[in-house]
Amino acid sequence: MGIAGLGRLGQRHAQHLARHAPGAQLVSACSPVAEERTWARETLGVQTLHSDFQAFVQDPQLDAVVLVTPTTLHAEQTMAALAAGKHVFVEKPLSLDVETCERVEAVAARHPGLVAMVGFVRRFDPSYRQARADIEAGHVGRPFLVRSQTCDMHDPAGFFVRFAPTSGGLFMDCSVHDIDLARWMLGSPRALRVFASGTIALHPDLAEHGDVDNGMAIIEFEGGARAVLYASRTMPHGHETTTEVIGTQGVLSVGVGAHRDRVQTRDASGVHHRPVADFFERFHEAFRHELDAFVQACRGGPPTGLSLADATAATRIGQAMRRSLHSGQPETV
Ligand code: NAI
Repeated sequence: MGIAGLGRLGQRHAQHLARHAPGAQLVSACSPVAEERTWARETLGVQTLHSDFQAFVQDPQLDAVVLVTPTTLHAEQTMAALAAGKHVFVEKPLSLDVETCERVEAVAARHPGLVAMVGFVRRFDPSYRQARADIEAGHVGRPFLVRSQTCDMHDPAGFFVRFAPTSGGLFMDCSVHDIDLARWMLGSPRALRVFASGTIALHPDLAEHGDVDNGMAIIEFEGGARAVLYASRTMPHGHETTTEVIGTQGVLSVGVGAHRDRVQTRDASGVHHRPVADFFERFHEAFRHELDAFVQACRGGPPTGLSLADATAATRIGQAMRRSLHSGQPETV
């Protein structure tokens, strides 16, 4: 396997592929940054290193590639990898543009023997998997409402302000996970309409990029199901990803309280527990499981359960949310 992109998330994926993923051998890495290539060689022993993506992806020794590059490169690199005959794992979102997602789907359709998977990591989190299994087993009756949030601990340096021009904004960067979860939990109904709003609580520089640091949205699905989403970059206490699925016979929730461990202190000032710090801490197991699932699928194992059509659907909804944020009106999906 080869990996392109060795930044914040890419280094973690590379470490897992090089050291832990059963059945995988990480033999090549690609980054335009010399220090990142040196890191891959010295830390992981990766022998083949590229600064040029085309040279990387054409390498005949590779069966599969993992793309952890900036969002704006995902679609073109995925199509190049498929055309070169490689299985592809690409980080979310596939593209900020629905038509581009559809172009990638068309290329993938011409290569039915290749696995193409987008990193909706939460589908591989043990708690979310259990929740999905419980819903399938009928424990909440018919699910009709998902309330889901992705809330990051505030980073006063505001790295996301620097990323705002390329990340697609709060909804495409963060809520895209909740959009996918809502679809998954509700059985993938078609989204009809969204209404979104948002506010800037702490980072006025986001305004010039048309972005917000706190955003909320309602999604209306065909058949009556609804989702209510919230995303924030400004939580003071930690990372809090929470999802609630409300059904006709029960309510199920994942992640409430953002507990780091099972320790709780009760004293004169109240009841306390430590919170999860960031998404790496919350989803470290899921990041490993998703890559393991990709490797197994490439080796002829079970399909990952995620299709490129899921990525297109998430982009379609996320972009309608962004339009609604700007227009102040409900938007058709
Ligand atoms: P980053 O900016 O830290 O890393 C990007 C990497 O891509 C860098 O190593 C850079 O040198 C490399 N790169 C740039 N141009 C390249 C090219 N042409 N060919 C090969 N490599 C190139 O970004 P980060 O935070 O690691 O995010 C990467 C992607 O992962 C983003 O699309 C983001 O949306 C996604 N992501 C997904 C998460 C999840 O929960 N599934 C969490 C964090 C990020």
